[in-house]
Amino acid sequence: MKELIVKLLEATIDQLKQQELLPSDLNARIMVDKTKDKSHGDLATNLALVNSKPAGHKPRDLAQLIVDNLPNSNLVEKTEIAGPGFINFYLNSQWLASQVEQMAQSKTLGIVQDQHQNVVVDYSAPNVAKEMHVGHIRSTIIGDAIVRVLAALGNHVIRANHIGDWGTQFGMLIANLEDLAKEQGIDPTHISLADLESFYRQAKQRYDSDEQFALRARNYVVRLQGGDEYCHTMWRKLVDITLNHNQQTYDRMGVSLTKQDVMGESLYNDMLAGIVDDLLKRGIAVEDEGATVVFLKEFKNKDGQPMGVIIRKKDGGYLYTTTDIACAKYRYETLKADRVMYFIDSRQHQHLLQAWTIVRKAGYVPESVSLEHHAFGMMLGKDGKPFKTRTGGTVKLRDLLDEAENRAREMIKERSSNLSLEEQEQVARTIAMAAVKYADLSKSRTTDYVFDWDNMLAFNGNTAPYLQYAYARICAIFRKAGVTLQEHQASLELNQEQEEALAQQLIAFNDVVHQVAAKGMPHLLCNYLYDLSGLFMSFYEACPILSADDSVKASRLQLAALTAKVLKQGLALLGINTLERM
Ligand code: ARG
Repeated sequence: MKELIVKLLEATIDQLKQQELLPSDLNARIMVDKTKDKSHGDLATNLALVNSKPAGHKPRDLAQLIVDNLPNSNLVEKTEIAGPGFINFYLNSQWLASQVEQMAQSKTLGIVQDQHQNVVVDYSAPNVAKEMHVGHIRSTIIGDAIVRVLAALGNHVIRANHIGDWGTQFGMLIANLEDLAKEQGIDPTHISLADLESFYRQAKQRYDSDEQFALRARNYVVRLQGGDEYCHTMWRKLVDITLNHNQQTYDRMGVSLTKQDVMGESLYNDMLAGIVDDLLKRGIAVEDEGATVVFLKEFKNKDGQPMGVIIRKKDGGYLYTTTDIACAKYRYETLKADRVMYFIDSRQHQHLLQAWTIVRKAGYVPESVSLEHHAFGMMLGKDGKPFKTRTGGTVKLRDLLDEAENRAREMIKERSSNLSLEEQEQVARTIAMAAVKYADLSKSRTTDYVFDWDNMLAFNGNTAPYLQYAYARICAIFRKAGVTLQEHQASLELNQEQEEALAQQLIAFNDVVHQVAAKGMPHLLCNYLYDLSGLFMSFYEACPILSADDSVKASRLQLAALTAKVLKQGLALLGINTLERM
């Protein structure tokens, strides 16, 4: 409720500024605290004391001015001015109780579906003929959480999986696929590659060492770009094999991407020539030593001159930037995006800004449509260095998930021996995926992130198992009470401090979810759920539920039920499953 009072005070000060009763440049410091002694109300602020000078009023006069202009709110029962100019607030716990009751009756748990934008979310984006690795994990997990949050607020969300499915490497990949099919005597359209990594490595190695092979590969690149049917079929095969692999990983992780969401680099191929010509014609791009270049004064090269961004090479080839220019244009023109959110690691920041500067100059996407880079740092090992296998290789996502399950299985065998083997397996898998996802989601994404098995699987601290356990524990209370959690409805009586604190946290759910959508920051929801669990534990310790009198018991069960529902729904928005027993 502190925040609600701060909001009320902010609104009052804004209004007083508009009425010129306070200086318009006043940067008021507003602090609201719990009172030590209930005879001074529930909350108090010293705002009139600390802002007296810049506001140009004596403290008590300023306090009076604010109290007189406070908007009507059911939240505040009464106010008083105390001592040198403190303002005390007496809160209306009836109001809080009714807020919680409304929330308990709402299908969305109080989430207001007031957003109706077309939002394109660019995330995951692995490359064809390569296995997904740790480098894709952050984009995939964070992007998928944001997609769920945006949809829950009423938006129409378009998932865009911008896979790397185009480029000169496809010549050698096609040649290699062809040979493999020949050796095995099977139709190349029926080959499946168990190990994409070694396939890619093999192709590259042959390209570098075998001149005949390289020649054939280069010929295939030209044919593929020219629309040759055979090369196109082979290319399609490589894409399909990769997508099948990736889909298994997505399904295993509970990531909501499907093959329908693939909008890879190849999709924009046909737009590239037209865009480069258009930019040339309009003088935005120029020919420079045979290449086509856009000089951007917004970016300086190392000599302090406008930076040249190449959009077509001397040999006629296009670049990653050209594709992202076309891609932004397509998302606005064809997908009718109001907002585009890119979840890509921070090393690509300059690349995106350059592509978008060109897009804006050309007027391909109006300023009213936001293009947002939600960048994140790298995944590091415990030693603070990039996360690698013991032998220094890239960690495949598949291997990482296997290890998570193995570790969770060991842990559950010890902890939950009361469960059947089948249940144990189910619990272990759910916890494993949750732990990997939550460890990433719960850190502010802008910084590098240290991947630490022990931390993420711990049952205490801000972890998935802790939150899942909090949920399972509430389910156990309901089993014991013989009451259905989903259906329990009762009116609330908020008498204890811990009940009020829990109720206040509960009603903040909608706000937090909106913040996550605005900022693209799922850790805000993680922190909220973690605090909610903590407040529930304090409540549970201080306020006996099952032994209380009927109406108090019903009220406390209501708080518990709503806490469980918010935990489950909040975790679901993060792409994390809960368990009723663990
Ligand atoms: N495939 C790229 C990579 O692995 C990421 C693509 C991100 N999206 C984009 N529109 N550029 O680095």
